[in-house]
Amino acid sequence: MLRRLRDAGYHVAPILTPDATRFVGPLTFSALASEPARIGLYDDPELPIPHTTLGQSADLIVVAPATAHLIARFAAGLADDLLTATLMASASPVLLCPAMHTEMWEQPVVQENLATLRRRGVLVLEPERGHLAGGDEGAGRLADPATIVTLVERIIKGYRGPLTGRRVLVTAGGTREPIDPVRVITNRSSGRQGYAIAEVAARLGAAVTLVTTTDRTLAIDVVGRIEVVEVVTAAEMREHALTLAKEMDVVVMAAAVADFTVDPAPNKLKKAAGPPQLALVATPDILVELVANRRDGQVIVGFAAESTDVLANAQAKFERKGVDVLVVNDVMTPGAGFESPTNEVRLLLRDHEPVAVSMRTKEDVALEVLTRVVALLPQGDQ
Ligand code: CTP
Repeated sequence: MLRRLRDAGYHVAPILTPDATRFVGPLTFSALASEPARIGLYDDPELPIPHTTLGQSADLIVVAPATAHLIARFAAGLADDLLTATLMASASPVLLCPAMHTEMWEQPVVQENLATLRRRGVLVLEPERGHLAGGDEGAGRLADPATIVTLVERIIKGYRGPLTGRRVLVTAGGTREPIDPVRVITNRSSGRQGYAIAEVAARLGAAVTLVTTTDRTLAIDVVGRIEVVEVVTAAEMREHALTLAKEMDVVVMAAAVADFTVDPAPNKLKKAAGPPQLALVATPDILVELVANRRDGQVIVGFAAESTDVLANAQAKFERKGVDVLVVNDVMTPGAGFESPTNEVRLLLRDHEPVAVSMRTKEDVALEVLTRVVALLPQGDQ
C-alpha cells in the first residue's frame, strides 16, 4: 500500500505503534515511505512535538490496519502514543481500515465504537471476508490495498461521506400554536432527535437545512453546512418544508407537528371571563403533502409517536403517510422519545421486516436511520 500511495504521487509519513513493530520493522516502512517511520512521541530531538506537526500537515490520516484496541482508544479520545496523539492533534479527515478476528469484529463494543467514530465524521472502510491469522476464515481481513488507495484518492479529491453532494431537509421540535399573545398549545418534543439527524447528516457530507421550533445549540456546525430556519407554528413549518423540499434529496420530518390549531385571540384572554371555549381546527398533514409532491428519487422519512398497539398503529401510519422509512417511537418506554438524550425505535421500511434499533444515543439512532436512507437513494446522480 505504501508503494502504491507513493506511486500515485502522495507524500507518505508513516507512524507505527510499538505493537506494529513486532510485525514489521520500522526500516521496511522507512524504505518504502517518503519519510523515516516514527514510533515514539519523544524519539526525535529535532521534532519535540511530532504529533502536532504531523497532525496539522496531513491531508488525510489512514489507519491500516486499525485494531479493536486502536478503535477503542480513538473513540475514547486517548492520546497515549504517537498515533493516537496525532489523530487527536489533527482536523484532517481520518480513514480507518479495521482488521481483526471475526469474533472481535462482531463484538458490540467494537461496532459501537465505530458508530461513535462514524458519527464524528471518521470514515471506515469495512474489512473483507477471507483468511485470517492462525488459519481462520471469516469477516475481519484488512481491505485490499488497491481499494484503500482508490478511497484515499476519492477522499483527497473532496469525498466526505455517503451523503456528499446530497441536500437533506430535517424538521425538529414541537410546533407552538398561539391561543392569545401569551399562551400556546404545544407538546413535549425537545427537538433532540431532529437535531441529531441534522448533525449526523452533515457529518456524512450532506448540505443540511434544519427547520426547527427550538433553539438548541448545534454541537457541530463546523463548516456552516447546517442552515437553520426558525419557525413557531405548524402553518409556518408547512410553508417552509413544502418550499424547501422541492430542492431536497432527502426529507426527514422529525418535528412533532400540532394536529390541531386555533384562531388566536388578539388580546390576552382574561381569567374573569371564565374558561375559554377553544375552537380547534385540524392542521394539514405536512408529511402527506410532501409525499404527494415528492421529486423523483426523493427519500422521505416520517416519525410516529405511539403509546398503545405500537406496531399495529405504526404500520397503519406507514401506509397512510406513504413514506419510505417510518421511525417508530413507543413514548411509554423509559429513556426513549421526548426530552430524552437516548432513544429506542423500530424502523418500518418497504418490503422489509421491521428493524429494531435498541436503546442508544439519539446520534446513533440518527446514524441507523441515515444508513437506511443512503441505501434507498438513487446512485450515480450526485
Ligand atoms: N406530521 C405532519 N403534519 C402534521 C402532523 C404530523 O407532517 N400535521 C408528521 C410528523 O412530523 C411525523 C408524522 O407526521 O413525522 C407522524 O406524526 P404523529 O404525531 O405520530 O402522527 P399523526 O399523523 O399525528 O397521527 P396520530 O395523532 O393519530 O398518532
